[in-house]
Amino acid sequence: MDMTGATPLEALKALEREALGAISAASDPAALEAVRVTYLGRKDGRISLILRGLGELPPDERPAVGQEANRVKRAVQGALEAREAEMAAPSEATSEDLTLPSRPAWKGAIHPVSRAMDEIWEIFRALGFSRARGPEADTEWYNFEALNTPLDHPAADEQDTLYLEGGGLLRSHTSPVQIRTMERYPPPVRILAPGWVYRRDTYDATHTPVFLQIEGLVVDEGVTFVDFKATLTEFARRYWGPGTRTRFRPSFFPFTEPSAEVDVKRVITRPDGTTEETDWLEIMGAGMVDPAVLRNAGYDAERYTGFAFGMGPARIAMLKYGVKDLRTFFENDMRFLAQFSR
Ligand code: DAH
Repeated sequence: MDMTGATPLEALKALEREALGAISAASDPAALEAVRVTYLGRKDGRISLILRGLGELPPDERPAVGQEANRVKRAVQGALEAREAEMAAPSEATSEDLTLPSRPAWKGAIHPVSRAMDEIWEIFRALGFSRARGPEADTEWYNFEALNTPLDHPAADEQDTLYLEGGGLLRSHTSPVQIRTMERYPPPVRILAPGWVYRRDTYDATHTPVFLQIEGLVVDEGVTFVDFKATLTEFARRYWGPGTRTRFRPSFFPFTEPSAEVDVKRVITRPDGTTEETDWLEIMGAGMVDPAVLRNAGYDAERYTGFAFGMGPARIAMLKYGVKDLRTFFENDMRFLAQFSR
C-alpha cells in the first residue's frame, strides 16, 4: 500500500476525493464503468487493494483503516449508482430543450460536373482507353502550332488566352495533350485526357473563362472513319441510353481532317412510360487526326491514322440534367447543388 508519506486515513480521503471527481467528470456509461474498475475493480481496484491489504497493517491501525476504507467504498459505490441513474434518465432540471427537432444531417455528394467526368471516363476506360494528362501552362507550339494552327489563323484568335512571362500561355484546350502523348509513347495510343483550360471568354450562361475539357485520341495502323463513328456512337449510347442517335455534322478544326461536330438525340422516358425524343444536342468537336499533327508529334503519317475528340463535361452535365445556366454549377448555391445529392 503506497501511502506516499500520508497516514492511511489521509490517503483514503484523497482517494475518495479523486474517485468522486472522476465520477462526476465521466460523460457516458463507458467512462463511468472505467472509473468503477479503477477504484472498485475486484482484482486490482485501488480501494479493493487497500481492503485486501489490511492484514499487513499494524494490528492497532486495522479497525480504523478498515472502517474508513469501507465507508469510502460505499460512498464511491453510491456516487457511481447516482451518476448511472442520472445518465439513464436526464433530470427535469436539464437546461436543454429536448423537444427541439434535430438538425437535418448534411449529406455530401459528387459535384454534377465531376460526376459527368467520372461517368465519361468509366465508359472510355471500358472501351480500352488510358488516362493522360498535360500541363495547364503550356507553349504556343503545343497549344497551336503543333496542332496545325498557325498563330495568325482565325482559329487561334477564337482561343485567345492568358499569356505568361517568358512566352508561355495557359492552354486554351486539352488538345496539346495529343502532341505530348504521341511524343512520349509510340503508337498505338488510345487516351482520354481530362483537365482545366483557359480562354478569354466572358462569364455568361454558356461560357466560363476557366473550364474542364476532356480530350480523346486514338492512333494506330488502319484506324478508319468507321472506328471513329462507331466509338463515339457507342459512347453516346452508354452515356445517354441505348436509344440515343448520333449525327456527325461537317465542321472545321485545324488539327482534324475531315472534322465533325457530334450531336446526339436522346430518347427520354417519362414517368408514365411514354417516350419523347429531344432535339439534336451538340456534345463535342471531333475528326480524323490531320497527318500534319501526326508528323509534328514525330509519328509516321503514312503508316498511322487516328481520330480525336474534345468535349466539355459541364456542357454534357447541362444537357443531361436540363440545366439552363452554366454559372449555377460554380456559384455554390446549395439550393441548386442539393438536387444532385441523391
Ligand atoms: N480543341 C477543340 C476546342 O477546344 C475541341 C476539339 C475539336 C478537340 C476537335 C478535338 C477535335 O480533339 O478533334 O474547341
